[in-house]
Amino acid sequence: MQITITTLPGDGIGPEVTAQAVRVLETCTEMFGHLLRVTEKNVGGAALLACNDPFPPDTLDACLSSDAVLLGAVGGPAFDKYPAKLRPEAGLLRLRKELGVFANLRPAICLAGMESLSPLRPEIVRGTDVMIVRELLGGVYFGARSTEGEPGSRRAADSMVYSEPEIERIAHVAFKIAEGRRKQLLSVDKANVLDSSRLWRDVVTRIGNEYPDVKLSHAYVDSTAMALVSRPAIFDVIVTENMFGDILSDQAGAVVGSLGLLPSASVGGKVGLYEPIHGSAPDIAGQGIANPLGTILSAAMMLRHSFKLEQEAALIENAVKQVLGAGHRTRDLAEKGADSVSTQQMGDLVVQQLRTGIVQT
Ligand code: IPM
Ligand code: MG
Repeated sequence: MQITITTLPGDGIGPEVTAQAVRVLETCTEMFGHLLRVTEKNVGGAALLACNDPFPPDTLDACLSSDAVLLGAVGGPAFDKYPAKLRPEAGLLRLRKELGVFANLRPAICLAGMESLSPLRPEIVRGTDVMIVRELLGGVYFGARSTEGEPGSRRAADSMVYSEPEIERIAHVAFKIAEGRRKQLLSVDKANVLDSSRLWRDVVTRIGNEYPDVKLSHAYVDSTAMALVSRPAIFDVIVTENMFGDILSDQAGAVVGSLGLLPSASVGGKVGLYEPIHGSAPDIAGQGIANPLGTILSAAMMLRHSFKLEQEAALIENAVKQVLGAGHRTRDLAEKGADSVSTQQMGDLVVQQLRTGIVQT
């Protein structure tokens, strides 16, 4: 199979972690006889510095003419003072919009035996396996925004907007995912306060009639945040709007051990977009200590969702499990004072595990 992808390493630790994921992809595709073609382009702050546009036209063209996009991270303190439209994050939002990827899948799993990675007690985190389905192209991220007035009396507003079709399509994605899992879907909103949430609840309930096998329940986002940290193992699939999903997925990452482990897939559009959820981590960028596993696992999700290469995806996921199981940790995962491996060494370990099926100890 020909696998044509665009990589967008971006900012901060993005380039370091993307490089390791590409190595892993090269190894895996070679083992299975696929032809991997990678084009690298700029996005975010890297693109701003190169051409004053966080999402330049040639990056869009490359993404649209490939089968999938693998992104590192965008953003950094150097760009904090830039106007809204020229922020690296604006580039990422345009990328998502142009690709039409409205469904963002963020799995957070506590692997058996890996309970000690979590800041929670092992008996609480044990068995956690939640899939957060985040709506990615609507809500407050894309609603009208404004700042008016003079300093001292300024007013700023962001509006959270959802239409029925937008809620319907994300609900269908979530119900289908739940059908393939433990068949429990929790829709998260703030329907006790927000109109957009009342519409959300109404539409998700209606779509639920088409999925009689899935047990649908509803909860408010504040109480979900509490349950996610006190009883994370009760969740199967969570579907929620854009900003609630942004927040809950970071929380889920911390619950299972580290944001650095969490991959994501953004699907439903012309071309799939795969990215770790951790962001650019400017404080540790360039030091070679970032955790590449979230990006490596995102590459596995890419093989599964964009190329239907389940076996290849599972091989990478299994390699990551073996490497972690053998006790290797990047700094974010290591206990205080314990040894840790570099970004590159973690990549080496996964590549070696793929090639030989043997994990170095
Ligand atoms: C994420 C990130 C982005 C988001 C930022 C960088 C715009 O936090 O992917 O979760 O808020 O969607
Ligand atoms: Mg986020």
